Amino acid sequence: HESATHNTDIMTITRHVLNEQSKYPESRGDFSILLSHIVLGCKFVCSAVNKAGLAKLIGLAGETNVQGEEQKKLDVLSNEVFVKALVSSGRTCILVSEEDEEAIFVEPSKRGKYCVVFDPLDGSSNIDCGVSIGTIFGIYMIKDGGEPVLEDVLQSGKHMVAAGYCMYGSSCTFVLSTGSGVNGFTLDPSLGEFIMTHPDIKIPKKGKIYSVNEGNAKNWDGPTTKYVEKCKFPTDGSSPKSLRYIGSMVADVHRTLLYGGVFLYPGDKKSPNGKLRVLYEVFPMSFLMEQAGGQAFTGKERALDLVPKKIHERSPIFLGSYDDIEEIKALYAAEQ
Ligand code: AHG
Ligand code: MN
Ligand code: MN
Ligand code: MN
Repeated sequence: HESATHNTDIMTITRHVLNEQSKYPESRGDFSILLSHIVLGCKFVCSAVNKAGLAKLIGLAGETNVQGEEQKKLDVLSNEVFVKALVSSGRTCILVSEEDEEAIFVEPSKRGKYCVVFDPLDGSSNIDCGVSIGTIFGIYMIKDGGEPVLEDVLQSGKHMVAAGYCMYGSSCTFVLSTGSGVNGFTLDPSLGEFIMTHPDIKIPKKGKIYSVNEGNAKNWDGPTTKYVEKCKFPTDGSSPKSLRYIGSMVADVHRTLLYGGVFLYPGDKKSPNGKLRVLYEVFPMSFLMEQAGGQAFTGKERALDLVPKKIHERSPIFLGSYDDIEEIKALYAAEQ
């Protein structure tokens, strides 16, 4: 009989992915094994983040990365953990990390068919003050069974087979899509398992929140300036939107996914391509937004249609509720 007090049908992330994989009879569980190693990395980072203040993980590692950013100790530590976990899974052949200048080609004896692009620690500027940070990843299949080449990780976002993020906040939340919707899982520390807490996430069609770093307003272009103006001084009698900006993409996107609204990192006069990186920030979040019924736009085209030329390429990004992004697209179209 069914227990009245306990959920005995525990839907873990592993069980969920096995269910998804059962749709592909020819699959040999490779994806499940890959994902279990990504999950291991996230559990490690979650634990390291939670005791960062105690374990002297605060502060700078004294190096700068290819982005020209001062690396934090946790950036470096998280990157090492993910690279080792992904290589040891035996299911990857190319890795691209924000923290490594060149793509990593896995040694032949440990190669699998997946290419993983990832931001091991997103929102690093927020580590020292305890504000939510995260890990973002996207997964491609190698284009053809041959020798892995750089083009295998320069595919457009629409060819991603899966994407997700883990947010290290008040709880540790893992959000994943394998191409048929978006599901959220929360880490139960007593089990060490991610349990499904947000089945089939759909973003509200329209939202009341806009999320952008207004400090860059001086350099914005016309359409972005006009859109933000409309958020603050609506001309259709509706009430102004609220501004929420955390400064960690994972946290700002997670709130947008659950509450609705828009997240913008526009290009501007100083940085025409904005700040966020196409492969391991723009593509995974755009993939999730579309899977949740939202949109992701670059100011020129659908974000997932971009074809990156370089692994650390940046792009402006406008993502969120379907109707809100339509308004932004109309403003850019009028500018053409
Ligand atoms: P990362 O810490 O991985 O380098 O990413 C930081 C990004 C992203 O998390 C966030 O949305 C954005 O930087 C904030 O940039 P600004 O401080 O310029 O607003
Ligand atoms: Mn960084
Ligand atoms: Mn980032
Ligand atoms: Mn990062």
